[in-house]
Amino acid sequence: MDSLHIRGGRPLNGQVMVSGAKNAALAIMAGCVLGEGPIRLQRVPFLTDIEVMSAVLRTLGVTVARQGDSLVIDATHIDNGAPPYELVSKMRASFFILGPLVARLGKASIPLPGGCAIGSRPVDLHLKGLKAMGCEVVIDHGTVHVTAEKLVGAPVYLDYPSVGATENIMMAAVLADGRTTIENAAQEPEIADLAKFLNGLGAKITGAGTDTIIIDGVKHVTGGEHSVIGDRIEAGTYLIAGAMTRGRVQVQGVPIDAMGAILSKLQEVGAMISIDSPESCTVFGPDFLRATDLRTLPFPGFPTDLQAPFMAMLAVARGTSMVAETVFENRFLHVDEFQRMGAQVRIEGHCAVVQGVPALTGAHVQSTDLRAAAALALAGLVAQGDTVLGKLHHLDRGYENFDGKLRQLGADVHRLEAAPLTAG
Ligand code: EPZ
Repeated sequence: MDSLHIRGGRPLNGQVMVSGAKNAALAIMAGCVLGEGPIRLQRVPFLTDIEVMSAVLRTLGVTVARQGDSLVIDATHIDNGAPPYELVSKMRASFFILGPLVARLGKASIPLPGGCAIGSRPVDLHLKGLKAMGCEVVIDHGTVHVTAEKLVGAPVYLDYPSVGATENIMMAAVLADGRTTIENAAQEPEIADLAKFLNGLGAKITGAGTDTIIIDGVKHVTGGEHSVIGDRIEAGTYLIAGAMTRGRVQVQGVPIDAMGAILSKLQEVGAMISIDSPESCTVFGPDFLRATDLRTLPFPGFPTDLQAPFMAMLAVARGTSMVAETVFENRFLHVDEFQRMGAQVRIEGHCAVVQGVPALTGAHVQSTDLRAAAALALAGLVAQGDTVLGKLHHLDRGYENFDGKLRQLGADVHRLEAAPLTAG
């Protein structure tokens, strides 16, 4: 297993171009299943999750070719609605192909995504929407079997604004007969990007990015092309790194109007923000960080994916902060590892009480999920001494060239390949 070696104490300074958003690219790749014709996706990041989704699509008879920062995908001759368990079980987002598959083939069998480190991750809302559109759903031996003579547009109310459920239902509705309305839909920018992509293929979607999305079904959608939206979570990660190292970091290539919550919270801890263009902003780290409270919420609230990185900063702020994680039930696994670096954090139910300390100390730490991995690296940037971060496969799922981008900002970070195990 590779490891990241970080020597703390250096302020980060410079510019970083964010990559295309992982959580937009994965949903859009699933949406390609709807298209009859070649589709070119630009700004697709080099991440292991993208490789897994590419492999899943290929098992369906979809062609996927990497051409630089683009993927060329063609689902014209799709002929299989049952991807294998060993691939689907690697990544929850594989479940997003269910809606498009049923829309294209009239049937699909997808293994239930298991839980993961951060929670049980149910899919009841995905299935509620598909049933409303006339699907027959049978769960048997851990696999969801969905069939539909014909998908018929219907009103769907989501009890919780689930990102994945909104995307799965929206994609199925593209080829349904009639109008589907999704009430209490998730409003994340990645959903608006997915809708923009699908409309480019000939779909008829309005309201994406609000809590009510209307999809008027069409008979077919064609090929096309799309450039994936910049990754607001990656951008937020580097802005936090700039703030907590007392540096000056400009992020580029991300819609700033998708960053409201994180920019506001950065100002609360004392950082200065300058908006340089619609797609770039700069953070100026303060001499000292002030404690503040944080509550994760569906968009436009503070994103759960930045909870762990932001906690790394609160760990060295002056004062005590309350961090409430309301989206997932178990997303504090990074706390144990922070404590090994000298952080003073205690968990009380869905809240973490973070008592800022003057300094963290470097240590050997392990990642538990992809955002925790990034958070521990950020902690290493300000810790006294060296930090060695293991289990980097988590990091590689969601951050393209993470160590390279940090080095470009002046961090003393190096990735060491694990020595091959020698026999004997
Ligand atoms: C997406 O996951 C993202 N993943 C997650 O990013 C992100 O944290 C999450 O949205 C919230 O923003 C991708 O887009 C690939 P949800 P998703 O359905 O769709 C409950 C990362 O680090 N729920 O909005 O799985 C669920 O249990 C990853 O990049 C139901 O109860 O998130 C959770 O508590 C992590 N029933 C809450 O909703 C359902 O049918 C939010 O889940 C579906 C979800």
